Amino acid sequence: MKQSPIGVFDSGIGGLTVLREITNLLPSESTIYLGDTARVPYGSKSKETIERYSFEIARFLQKHGVKMLVAACNTASAYAVPKLASVLDIPVIGVIEPGARAAVAATTAKRIGVIGTEGTIKSNSYVNAIKRLCDGGAFDIVEHGKKSFDRYFEVKPGKDVVIFTKACPLFVPLVEEGWTDDAVTRIIAERYLTGLKDEGIDTLVLGCTHYPLLKNTISSVMGSGVSLIDSAASTAAEVKKTLEDSGLLSDSKKASHRFFVTDSPERFMTVGRRFFGDRLGNAELSVLSE
Ligand code: DGL
Repeated sequence: MKQSPIGVFDSGIGGLTVLREITNLLPSESTIYLGDTARVPYGSKSKETIERYSFEIARFLQKHGVKMLVAACNTASAYAVPKLASVLDIPVIGVIEPGARAAVAATTAKRIGVIGTEGTIKSNSYVNAIKRLCDGGAFDIVEHGKKSFDRYFEVKPGKDVVIFTKACPLFVPLVEEGWTDDAVTRIIAERYLTGLKDEGIDTLVLGCTHYPLLKNTISSVMGSGVSLIDSAASTAAEVKKTLEDSGLLSDSKKASHRFFVTDSPERFMTVGRRFFGDRLGNAELSVLSE
C-alpha cells in the first residue's frame, strides 16, 4: 500500500498546479492524475453534476490502486469532497480546508477575500471552512448584500473576521489561453478585484486551480500589502501529514507519474506544460468506464 500512487484529479489541466506542489514536496510518491478535459469547466455546473463526475473519477482512480485521493479542483472540493470522504475507504483531501487554514494563519487585519469559480463561491465552502477554524465554528456567519463584490460575511461575534467573496469566471479561459501577463487580463483583474481592494482586505485566497498562474497580475492590482494564498502549497503539506499519520508515506527511490485525460491528450500536453513544466509525461486517453 505504501508504494501505491496518490490519485489526483481536476476538471482539466489546472490541477497540475496542485500536483506540482505534491511532487515537489514528496519526490518519493508516485501519482496518477486524471484531468476531466471532456467535461471542463466544472465551475459553472451544479453540485449534483460535480458529485456524479467526481465519483466516476474516484472509481477510475481506485481501480488503478490509489492509496489516497486528492481533489485538486476547488469546485469539486467544494461540492464533492465531503461525500467522497464519507463513502470511500481511503483518505480523501480537497483544497478548501488547507487554503482556509493558510488564510486564517496569514491574516492580521482579519479581512479576508476569497476568489474562485461561480460554483466554489456559491457553495460558501471557504466561508464555512474559515468559520470552522474560528473557534471551532461556534460563531454565526452574517451575510450581507451585494456591493461591488459578490457577498461579504462577518464571522461574529465582535466582527472577528470579515470575508469578502467574488467569483472571477473569466480568469480560467484567460489562463488556458496563456494570457497570464497580458494587458487584457490586467483590465479584467482590475474590474473583478477593485471592490475587494477598496474593502482593505489583507489576505486573498486564490480559490481556483488556475489563479496561481495569475499571481503577478493579481498582486500588482491588489498591492504588496495583500498576501495571496495559494491552496496548492498548503494542500501538498496536508497530503504529507495525512500520509505520515496513516503510515502510508512511500520510501521508494523510483516514483512514477501517470496522466490520464478524458479528451484530446494533445491539448493537455501543450497547455499542461505551462502548469507542470517539462516533467509532464505523455497523457493517456480514458473514457473513465474502463
Ligand atoms: N479546476 C477548477 C477549479 O479549481 C477551475 C476550472 C473549471 O471551472 O473547471 O475550480
